[in-house]
Amino acid sequence: MTARIIDGKAVADKLNAETAAKVAAFVKTHGRAPGLAVVLVGEDPASQVYVRNKGKATIAAGMLSVEHKLPAEASEAEVLALVGKLNDDPKIDGILFQLPVPKHINADRVIDTIDPAKDVDGFNVVNAGRLAVGFDGLFPCTPLGCLVLLDEAGVKLEGAEVVVVGRSNLVGKPVTQLLLRRNATVTIAHSRTKDLAAVCRRADVVIAAVGRPRMIQGDWIKPGAAVIDVGINRIEEGGKNRLVGDVDYDAAAKVASAITPVPGGVGPMTIACLLRNTLTSAERRAKR
Ligand code: GUN
Repeated sequence: MTARIIDGKAVADKLNAETAAKVAAFVKTHGRAPGLAVVLVGEDPASQVYVRNKGKATIAAGMLSVEHKLPAEASEAEVLALVGKLNDDPKIDGILFQLPVPKHINADRVIDTIDPAKDVDGFNVVNAGRLAVGFDGLFPCTPLGCLVLLDEAGVKLEGAEVVVVGRSNLVGKPVTQLLLRRNATVTIAHSRTKDLAAVCRRADVVIAAVGRPRMIQGDWIKPGAAVIDVGINRIEEGGKNRLVGDVDYDAAAKVASAITPVPGGVGPMTIACLLRNTLTSAERRAKR
């Protein structure tokens, strides 16, 4: 079998077009555009690229994009004061605190200062709790993107055996909660899991979010399973700098029924879901 390639760019383009249409309707009704503020501390090169792309996508969707770039030496108190101002600003519907941050700043404390109604990353404990107990809230963008891709690929989640490799608060745990809400049977595997290969072989769906290049081997995939690769790893290979996922793509694509490539799979979905979350936040806040 050769896997169908799940085209994350095409799915993200479609979702972005839907969001842009709803943004236009929001502007007509409310006389203002949904607003997304991004806070970046320091000069992490990858973060600078993300923030630039987020700004462009936000504007392309017809929303207000506000960027606050603070120097690496900015104090935690300054960051907290800025978040407080954004919490109180009625033009701002979403606040994204770009990670990673310099060591002298406690990222968890900053994230938990964001108004949960504006926490479009879904990283604060209120939204994590709301996700876990089955309430409405704002949920993490990359996990949401994984579910959109599985739905678009026609993968049935109800009753399916899903193995999530990785237990981070950013991806592994929230994607597990979203899958549970869809009635999947979910196993979270991680670096201490015994016989990870055997655990993966049980899965109808593998979600790889460990951050280790090509760790998931082709023969760990059950024939016909779907594979979602969240990994984005930069490696040196054949004298070239390459971007690879957490899955050995060439081998896995020979046995899976559907697979996401890296790049062009989960990656484009994160910003698309961020924009959708920002719109959702604006709509809810307008009703309050
Ligand atoms: N750094 C890399 N990806 C992300 C993301 O989705 N959200 C935030 N806040 N920081 C990031």
